Amino acid sequence: MCGIVGILGDHEAAPILIDALKRLEYRGYDSAGIATVDAGSLGRRRAMGKLVNLSDLLMHEPITGKSGIGHTRWATHGAPNVINAHPHRAKDVAVVHNGIIENYKDLRDELTAAGTVFETETDTETVVQLCMSYLNEGLSSIDAAAATIKCLEGAYALCFLFEGEDDLLIAARKGSPLAIGHGDGEMYVGSDALALAPMTDKITYLEEGDWAVVTRSSLEIRDADGKLANREMRTIKVDAGKTDKGIHKHYMMKEIAEQPTVLADAIGHYTDAETGTVSVPNLNIDFTTVDKITMVACGTAYLACSVAKYWFEQIASIPCEVDVASEFRYREPPMSDKSVAMFVSQSGETADTLAALRYCAEKVAKTVAVVNVAESSISRECDISLPIHAGVEIGVASTKAFTCQLIALAAVVISAARARGEMDAAVEQELHDALNNLPGLINQSLAHQSHIDAVTIDLAKAADALFLGRGVMYPLALEGALKLKEISYIHAEGYASGELKHGPIALVDEHMPVIVMAPKDDLFDKTVSNMQEVMARGGKVLLVTDQSGADTAGDGVWKTIIMPPVHNMLAPVLYAIPAQLIAYYTAVRKGTDVDQPRNLAKSVTVE
Ligand code: F6R
Repeated sequence: MCGIVGILGDHEAAPILIDALKRLEYRGYDSAGIATVDAGSLGRRRAMGKLVNLSDLLMHEPITGKSGIGHTRWATHGAPNVINAHPHRAKDVAVVHNGIIENYKDLRDELTAAGTVFETETDTETVVQLCMSYLNEGLSSIDAAAATIKCLEGAYALCFLFEGEDDLLIAARKGSPLAIGHGDGEMYVGSDALALAPMTDKITYLEEGDWAVVTRSSLEIRDADGKLANREMRTIKVDAGKTDKGIHKHYMMKEIAEQPTVLADAIGHYTDAETGTVSVPNLNIDFTTVDKITMVACGTAYLACSVAKYWFEQIASIPCEVDVASEFRYREPPMSDKSVAMFVSQSGETADTLAALRYCAEKVAKTVAVVNVAESSISRECDISLPIHAGVEIGVASTKAFTCQLIALAAVVISAARARGEMDAAVEQELHDALNNLPGLINQSLAHQSHIDAVTIDLAKAADALFLGRGVMYPLALEGALKLKEISYIHAEGYASGELKHGPIALVDEHMPVIVMAPKDDLFDKTVSNMQEVMARGGKVLLVTDQSGADTAGDGVWKTIIMPPVHNMLAPVLYAIPAQLIAYYTAVRKGTDVDQPRNLAKSVTVE
């Protein structure tokens, strides 16, 4: 997390840095800051909270200079206040950092013993103080930065700026992504290509352990051993124009509303109308020899994997395990060399998912990335990378990426089932048609927005909520609860309907909304029994179902949201829409910051 940017430009750097930081604010928004060099003189401005506070500060206290660095912070060490905001500075050097320096205490102790006085509790201040100590020993700026980088353990993307150096940035990467942008007589550094998109589409990605000396006219990259490294410059397509909110008040609503279009695009990549088949381009796997699928991810992406587990086992008859990435490798699970490991991530940079991938890399037959950001670390490090075609997702709460992940995973499952002889052409045609019907069904369910908005009048008053689902709808109940808690701050839990009576039913009373996600499928009657158990105890049931389900459910349901009928397999994709809208409208009613909920960041690049 944290977004960093650096510019060696031909124009005043401050407004360009602010503009780039706007595109990085999804990575953290606890504080922001910039530093510039003007005729050799280093200056900086920092402000607590959102970027807008820094922009306001710069109106009153501008800084000049065509070279600069900027940072938007997600706090790890030290409170989110001005003193802990980046860039950190020690006299002649300023640094922005994304990641965690794990040995900072040891370095700090050594520096303190040698007389350095620290201003903050942050790990990053150690980097600038250490660099300054090397400058004091007489090392050049480049040598001081190189010596500093050598001492660091942990994860970092760093960008250094120096007093007296109008044409120099030092960039370094280990564990956190970093891109170098090539302009016309200008050079840039950024956490991702999106940050640099309006300036350039020519990007060189630093690899693990690389550090780079950047000037307006040159780029010299060295690897972890200090050897000159040749890294390819690529042309990256990121449409920065698509990052506005359009007619919507929030990115989240824009991204919810985009789903019929982006899903149609994604489905178009996997289905062939002429043959009625489903296939995944470049999925070079012989599924007849695969003995297990392991799926690893975090948060919403983990819940997409949890849906796909039902599909892999029921439809393709392949045993499937799903793990939360932050726990996976600590179990030290034995991996079969006939298995496939899949890593699902919107950003493609989530530190725990990346670490899980590295754990599996040499142990399994194939590693597969299912990512939204095509140039991300997870995408680049997997044997096979499947793009989900969701387009840029800015809202911190994942919406369209979730449904697009489900589409990509469904296509993999169908391909695997066909290859293993578990699916005949008629069933494949049926699923092909069901997939292609989805965008229309999503459009229909988006038409219920005002009803869902009205339902949230009472929901917004609740302190707690339960979400229930059975079978493939169970992970969706977890997703509904995750969405609600992360943007409305209402405590919400998702449960398998049948698990309710094993404990959580003790929570149920007349104040507890219980949201039941249940299309009229083979499991519906059992879910209705669980609903009755809730209603018998005064619980308020909000049932999300189809007309047939509503007709069967009987009396006593508090409120109902009617969905169009959908193929059983794809119900979690369609029912994601009301889950997202319930969370959205509840949060809007509560007045929380929908796009940038407190304490969160979109790209979680620390473990
Ligand atoms: C929730 C949400 C997070 C992410 C999680 C993984 O709405 O967005 O739970 O799903 O942080 O992020 P990625 O998919 O980038 O690995």
